[in-house]
Amino acid sequence: MKLSQIDRKWWKEAVVYQIYPRSFQDTNGDGVGDLPGVIQRLDYIKSLGVDVIWLNPCFESPNDDNGYDISDYRKIMPEFGTMDDFETLLAGVHERGMKLVMDLVVNHSSDEHEWFKQSRSSRDNPYRDYYHWWPAEKGTPPRRWSYFDKDGTAWKYDEPTDAYYLHYFAEKQPDLNWENPKVREEIYDMMHFWFKKGIDGFRMDVITFISKHDGYPEFPEEYQGQNMIDMYAQGPRLHEYLHEMNEKVLSHYDIMTVAEGPGTHTDNVLKLVGDDRKELNMNYHFDHQSIGVGDRGMVNEAFQDLVQFKQVMSDWDKALSQDGWNTVYFGNHDFPRMVSRWASDAPEYRATASKMLTTYLLTMRGTPYYYMGDEIGMSNIKFESIDEYDDIMTRNWYSLTQQEGGDTQALLDSHKITGRDNARTPIQWDNTSNAGFTTGKPWLTINPNYAEVNVAEQQNRSDSELNYFRKLMKFRKSELTLIYGSYNLLYSEHTQLYAYTRELDDKKLLVLLNFSNQVAECEAPASMHLGKVLINNCDAFSVNENSISLKPYQAVIIEVGQ
Ligand code: NOJ
Repeated sequence: MKLSQIDRKWWKEAVVYQIYPRSFQDTNGDGVGDLPGVIQRLDYIKSLGVDVIWLNPCFESPNDDNGYDISDYRKIMPEFGTMDDFETLLAGVHERGMKLVMDLVVNHSSDEHEWFKQSRSSRDNPYRDYYHWWPAEKGTPPRRWSYFDKDGTAWKYDEPTDAYYLHYFAEKQPDLNWENPKVREEIYDMMHFWFKKGIDGFRMDVITFISKHDGYPEFPEEYQGQNMIDMYAQGPRLHEYLHEMNEKVLSHYDIMTVAEGPGTHTDNVLKLVGDDRKELNMNYHFDHQSIGVGDRGMVNEAFQDLVQFKQVMSDWDKALSQDGWNTVYFGNHDFPRMVSRWASDAPEYRATASKMLTTYLLTMRGTPYYYMGDEIGMSNIKFESIDEYDDIMTRNWYSLTQQEGGDTQALLDSHKITGRDNARTPIQWDNTSNAGFTTGKPWLTINPNYAEVNVAEQQNRSDSELNYFRKLMKFRKSELTLIYGSYNLLYSEHTQLYAYTRELDDKKLLVLLNFSNQVAECEAPASMHLGKVLINNCDAFSVNENSISLKPYQAVIIEVGQ
């Protein structure tokens, strides 16, 4: 790969740091994180070296799905603060040379949004067609699955107008009707409203689901059940809408966009992010997250299958190597803590393993999305009982399993690994009560390991996970090879070792990562002169001409001579 052939963009060179405000920092003692809390911690965020903050939804919401059910797109959720707080935050981010990306949640709104209140009030209300309705006189609507519905169905009967409305997520999250041009205009207007305030982009929630199939036909057999996601993502007018959004809104600003792309795969992603498509910049997929994880978050023995993981990630790199641009991530508010899911949170490995995963995220091609708290190696809380969960998803899957007479204990066991609340426990700032997150009662239990794992303890310790993250950030920034260089997988069948080179112009780097809790060995790569060790998350590594041996969860980056 030659630098001269590359179309450089700020968002390709950026590292995104994701903040789930509810769990970041509380400043008023109500147990819920807020925008003044983010403001208070801006210098910390800057000290990480990240470029962009992605803020999860902070709009007015009854919080049935923690802000992913918006009742007013132009107001700030009172629990989080005010519009003045938001503006102070945005200014503070910009003053520090960073950018701010917000969440765009427009597949659905809250049922408490004024549009829906109007829509459900009568069949001839002007807002009726803002949502998807199925009149009851036509009989039961064709089957649609819902992620969060307590009965699993996405059609909810609504008495006042004797009709069903569609909700792919919870019943309090009715799907907006993008087929109606007025809805699209309202959304585009709202996007301009935020861009005019100066935000730097949007992460677009389940944006691949916005176009629905005409007349809601029965799903073909292959898309029944879990595969519904792929069908939901293939609405006939998806690309027409995104193209229109680009033309009417996105193209007017120097911003970045990233699709949350359920149902995107290597064979269709370029339709969304191909350079000449004029739709979105980036997409993040779920193909690695679904390795070894089945329906309702149930895990099987393949959930850490490294060979499969390497294959998936390498295929994605290839799909976007000539056109479009990739993203890489492990954790976010919908997935467990990276160290627990992809490596090991056993006390003897947690710190080294989390540094190894950080090395991976910051040395792959594609914009890294790094989830708050992973920089200190936070791990899953692993709730024992359903009563400890707040998340609508775990709670509803539990109750569905219970209704069916299924194995609820097995579900709880799996959710210790996959449950979303594992990533939502508050940030562990220090070892004082409530980890410095709040002076009140935290909205979600704080991981008891905060006494050992916290920012204050790691802040000045040179070998901490936190300072390793900062070091890797500096390293990535100083090496365009890590951003734009070609990626070449080695030892694809090795079950412990993930090894690859990154190469740009005359520079070549070899990244060696041991994803296991055993020593990993292999022959030294043929025809490579191994030079200086640039990064190492353990104390020792000696380059040997013939063989390579890595300690459990060791990560090493080596310069390769020509
Ligand atoms: C994806 C979001 O990331 C998730 O948290 C939310 O529950 C669903 N979309 C519905 O908005």
